[in-house]
Amino acid sequence: MKLFAYLPPAVPFLFAALVVGGLASKTLHIALHFHSLPLLYFVLYSPTLVLQDIFVIAFARVLLLTPTPEIKLQWLSTVLGGILSLIVWGASSVQWGFFMQTGAEVDWAASNSFLSDPAAMKILLSGISTVSAAGTIIGLVAWLANTKFYHWTGLGLQAIRGLFSSGIRSRYTLLGVPDRSWLSTSWLTKMDFKTTCRVAIIVSLSSSLLFLELTRPSIPYDHLSGALPLTLLDAFSKKSVTTSGCRQPSQKFPLWTSVNPGLLANGWSRPSWLPESPPSGFSRYEHSPEELAVKDNPSWYGCNEAEPGFYNPKKDPLKISNLDGEIYAPLKAAFDKHNVEIEHVILVTLESGRKEVFPMQQGTPMFDALLDSHPKEEREQAIDKLVTMTPVSQMLTGEYATDSKGQRVNLTGANWQDSAPEGMGGLNVRGAITGSSLTFKSVLGSHCGVHPLPVDLLEETELEIYQPCLPQLFELFNTVKGSDAGSSRSERDESAPPAWKNPWKSVFMQSITDGYDRQDTLNENMGFKHKVVKSTLTSSGSKYQAQGSEINYFGYAETELKPYIKDLFEEAAHNKTRMFLSHITSTTHHPWNTPDDFRNDDYMGSRGSINHTPMNNYLNTVRFVDGWLGEIMAMLDQTGIANSTLVVIVGDHGQAFAEDHKEMTGTYENGHISNYRVPIVFRHPHMPRLNIDANATSISIIPTILDLLIQSKSLDPRDSEMASALLSDYQGQSLIRPFVPSIKQNPDANAQAPRETNSRISRKPHSKPGDHTQHNWNFGIVNAGGSMVAVTAAGTPWRLILPLKENFEYIFSDLDKDPGELHPLNAWTIKELLKEVSSKYGDAAAKWTRDAERVGKWWVNEQRRNWGYREA
Ligand SMILES: *[C@@H]1O[C@H](CO)[C@@H](O)[C@H](O)[C@H]1NC(C)=O
Ligand SMILES: *[C@@H]1O[C@H](CO)[C@@H](O)[C@H](O)[C@H]1NC(C)=O
Ligand SMILES: *[C@@H]1O[C@H](CO)[C@@H](O)[C@H](O)[C@H]1NC(C)=O
Ligand SMILES: *[C@@H]1O[C@H](CO)[C@@H](O)[C@H](O)[C@H]1NC(C)=O
Repeated sequence: MKLFAYLPPAVPFLFAALVVGGLASKTLHIALHFHSLPLLYFVLYSPTLVLQDIFVIAFARVLLLTPTPEIKLQWLSTVLGGILSLIVWGASSVQWGFFMQTGAEVDWAASNSFLSDPAAMKILLSGISTVSAAGTIIGLVAWLANTKFYHWTGLGLQAIRGLFSSGIRSRYTLLGVPDRSWLSTSWLTKMDFKTTCRVAIIVSLSSSLLFLELTRPSIPYDHLSGALPLTLLDAFSKKSVTTSGCRQPSQKFPLWTSVNPGLLANGWSRPSWLPESPPSGFSRYEHSPEELAVKDNPSWYGCNEAEPGFYNPKKDPLKISNLDGEIYAPLKAAFDKHNVEIEHVILVTLESGRKEVFPMQQGTPMFDALLDSHPKEEREQAIDKLVTMTPVSQMLTGEYATDSKGQRVNLTGANWQDSAPEGMGGLNVRGAITGSSLTFKSVLGSHCGVHPLPVDLLEETELEIYQPCLPQLFELFNTVKGSDAGSSRSERDESAPPAWKNPWKSVFMQSITDGYDRQDTLNENMGFKHKVVKSTLTSSGSKYQAQGSEINYFGYAETELKPYIKDLFEEAAHNKTRMFLSHITSTTHHPWNTPDDFRNDDYMGSRGSINHTPMNNYLNTVRFVDGWLGEIMAMLDQTGIANSTLVVIVGDHGQAFAEDHKEMTGTYENGHISNYRVPIVFRHPHMPRLNIDANATSISIIPTILDLLIQSKSLDPRDSEMASALLSDYQGQSLIRPFVPSIKQNPDANAQAPRETNSRISRKPHSKPGDHTQHNWNFGIVNAGGSMVAVTAAGTPWRLILPLKENFEYIFSDLDKDPGELHPLNAWTIKELLKEVSSKYGDAAAKWTRDAERVGKWWVNEQRRNWGYREA
C-alpha cells in the first residue's frame, strides 16, 4: 500500500475541487434562470435546490476517507471518490467555459449527438481555452481552500454520525478529525437535554425540507435543483419532450385492415402530369392508395391511424395560398414583354447572414448598438465607415445606405458595378425570418420548401424529405426531355427559346467540409449529384486545389471555389446546360477569421463593458463575403449569362452578439430575434426593383422560383404544367404576388376542417367562436432543434419562444415596442406568462400568445407526422 503515501495531500484537494466545482455549477445554473423566478418562492424553496449538492458532497466525503490501513478496500473508495471529483471539476469547467463563450447553458442531453460527430467535436474544441480557464480558476479556489472543506465536512458528518451512532467509541477517527467525546456517547443511553434538542432540530429540519421538496412546483425547481454529476446522466437518457409526440416508440403500426381506404382515396390519385418514372422526391405523388396499402413502409402511418404520415396540402389548416392574387403590376408588365429570361438559377445561402448587415445601414437596433461602442465625437466617422462596408449588398437589394450627412454612399469603388439601370434588379424582401437557426435545417426550408423537424440536429437525413427539393424538381424536368411529349413540341415551335430543350445540372458548392452532422447525406437526399466541398479542394486528383490555408474549423474561405464556379458558368454559357448552383458561404461562421491577405478593419469603439472583438471580426467577414458576392456577380457578367440568371440570396440564420443582448450570444439554444432576421433577395437585372414588406420565411423560396419560371415562360409547356401543379402543393406563399398575412375564415369552411388528430390539441388551431382570423404562422426552430420553437404570425408584432423541454422558459416579446428584444417577459408556465402579457401588453397580446402556444404545440406534433418521425 505504498501508493497511499502520496495520496493524502491530493485527497483534500480533490474534495475541495468537487465542492467548488459543484457549487460553481449550481450558482451558474440558478443565476441563468434567476430573472424568471418569483423571489418569495425562490427564497422559500432555495434550501431544496442545494439538497442534491449536499448529498453529493457527503457521499464523496465518505468515499474519500483518510486512508488507514485498518479498512480494507479503501483504496477502491478513494479512487472512486477521486474520479467523481475529477468529473465534477471537469463538467463544471465545461459549463462555465460554454457560458463564457455563448451565454447559454450546456444541455447534457444533447451532448451525446455532438460527441459522435468529428466536425462537431472540432466546434467544441474551439472553446477549449475558455473551458481550461474556467477549470484553472476552480482548481485555484480549491487549492486556496486547501483542507478546509475536507475538514469541515468531516466534522459535520462526524457530528451526525455521533448523534445517531450506538455510542461505541471508535478505536480510530473514522473521518480523519479528532473525536469529540460529547458526540461519542449514544443518544439512546444518555439522552440529555442538549442532545434531545439537537436531534429534534435535525429531524424537524429534515422533515420540513422533505415537505418543501415534495410540495414545490416541479417546473422549474426540479431542473434547477439538479447537481453535478447527476445531471450528466441526462446525456445517457432518452430525450424528454413535454410536447408529447403522437408516435410513441412502443406503439405498433396499424395494419392496413384497420385503415379506412376511403380516407386515403380522398384527393389522392396519381397525377396526370407525373412522368412514368419520376426521380426521387416524388413518392407521395407516385403511389395510388392501393399501392400505399401494400407498401411496407412504416413511416407512411403513425400519429393517426387513418391518415398516412405524409404532407397533404389540402388538409393543412395552417396553409394560406396567395396564388389567386395578382402578380405585382410592374413585374407582370416585364413578363408580358417577354423580357425576363431565367435559364439558370443560383441560390446563395449566407452563413450567419443577418438582415441588418445586408446591407449595413443606419436605423436598425444593431447599428445603434455598434455606434454605442464609439464616443460621441467619433460617431460620424464610425457611421461613414460602417455604411461603406457592404456596397455589393446595397446594389443587390436596392437599399442604398446614407452616410452621416444623409448623402447616398458612393459605390464606385466596389469590385462589381450593377449594370442594370436604376429601378431594375428584382425582389427584395424586408421583414423575413428564418425557419431555423441551425444551418442545415434552414437549408431544408429554402431548398425543399419544408418546415424542418423540431428535434435536435439533422435527424431529417434519416427520413424522406416530405416535398421535392429544387434539384429534384429540375431532375423531374430533365426526365421528360427527349420524350415525345416534351421535345418534339418545342422543336417544332420555331419561336421556342433554345433553353427549353437544355437539361438542368444541379451543383452544390461550399469551401468547407460537408461531413458535419450528415450534411453530405442531406445533399444526396435533396438530389444533388455534383458537389465541390472541402475534400474536393484538398484532393490531389481534383482540377483545382485550395491555395490558401484553412480559415476555421470547417475549412477554407469561399474564394477558393472561384475556378470551379468560373468553369460552371462557362459550361452554362457554352455547353447547352441549365445551371442550378447552390452555394453556402463559410467565412461568416464563428470564429470569424478571414484569409491572411484580407486587411481587417476596426469597426468597433471601446466603450461599454463588453468585449467587442467577436462583433468586429464578424463585421470584417461580412465585408469579405460582400466582396465575394461581387466576384460572383462579376463572373456572371464576364461569362455573359447575367441577363439569363436568377440569383436568389438568403441568410441561413442571424447571429446574436453581446452587442445585441449582453447575456445571450450565439445561436445555440438562444431564441433571440437577432438570430432570426435574414435577407431574402430574388435578383434579376431585367426584373423591376420591388421592395416587399412581408414576414415571409425561406419556405417561400421554392414557390417563388417556380412561379417566376412559369410566369417568365422560361419552361416549356410540359415543364410548366408540372411546375404549376407542384407550386400549389408547397406550404409557402409566392413572393411575386402580394403576401397574405392572415385571412378571415368562413365559419362553414371551419366546420369542414379536418378532425382532431389527438385529444389534447385541436386540429384547427382557432376554435373559439366568433374569431375566424387565420394567421400566416411562422415557426423558427432554435438550434440544436429540439428545445425551443419561436412562434410568430405575419403582420403581428408579437413573438413567443415555446419551450419543448422542461428546462426551458416561455419567452414573450413585442417587436414593435422592443425591436431589439431587450426586455422580453420570461415565465416557466404558460399561465404565468399569460398573466404577465395581459397586464403589460393587453388582452389582444395575451389572446395571441395563447393561440401561438396552441398552434406551436400542434405544429410540433404535425411536423413529426409529416416527416414520419418517431423517437428512437
Ligand atoms: C465616387 O468616388 C470615386 C472614387 O472612388 C470618384 O472618382 C467619384 O467622383 C465619386 N463620385 C461622386 C458622385 O462623388
Ligand atoms: C415583419 O415585417 C415588418 C415589415 O413588414 C417588420 O417591420 C417586422 O420587424 C417584421 N417582423 C419580424 C418578426 O421580423
Ligand atoms: C459539355 O456537355 C457534354 C455533354 O452534356 C459533357 O460531356 C461535357 O463534359 C461538357 N463540357 C464541359 C466543359 O462541361
Ligand atoms: C443584358 O441586358 C442589357 C439590357 O438590359 C444589355 O444592355 C446588355 O447588353 C445585355 N448583356 C448581354 C451579355 O447580353
